Amino acid sequence: MQNQTDQPAAVQQPRFIEVLFEENNVISSVLNAIEKESINVFDGEDMEIDFWSSAATFLEKFAQNCHHKKEEAVLIPALLERGLAADNSVIVGTRADHKDGIVRLHKLRELLTTGNPRSIAQAGGSYAFVFREHLQRENMGLYPIAQETLSNLNGNKMLKSFQAIEREAFGTDGRDSLIRLGKMLCQKARIDFYGMKSLLPSGGGCGEGCSC
Ligand SMILES: [Fe+2]
Repeated sequence: MQNQTDQPAAVQQPRFIEVLFEENNVISSVLNAIEKESINVFDGEDMEIDFWSSAATFLEKFAQNCHHKKEEAVLIPALLERGLAADNSVIVGTRADHKDGIVRLHKLRELLTTGNPRSIAQAGGSYAFVFREHLQRENMGLYPIAQETLSNLNGNKMLKSFQAIEREAFGTDGRDSLIRLGKMLCQKARIDFYGMKSLLPSGGGCGEGCSC
């Protein structure tokens, strides 16, 4: 079990890439909580179904509808516009992982209605296992490529696009409540939680030098 996803150190990152790293840390914390609860079920503890339905909600809203969408709808198109090939293995792998995540989450949702505790714990535990590798691949592959390729980009425009995705995914105040949900899941499982800073330093407006 890992505490925090790897992040290349000592390089000045644009804030929009830092946001993606931070979100991966939030997701990674929740994956650790899911993995621990999964092990507990296989060790014979009673399943707290509320934990599992809240975990599925977090994964769907924060990971799938928000974080992955920022990569799919904003980051990857920006990389392709700047010449990265659509068949680059990092792009192909990221998109394939996201599709796999949708299938796995759908299965978990289904089992929450029809499955037994061990099948739910199995589905949740394997999601955590597979997606931890996905986060590592992004941290060590996709984001460093983005940092190099998009260094001259207007970062505030990227952040504004991220913010629009968040509003669509969970409304104006939903982001904070989703992060609180992630923290609560970690507290329940007694796992360290890695939070994140605000999306925009000025709390919604653009920072200095903004041209959007
Ligand atoms: Fe992703």
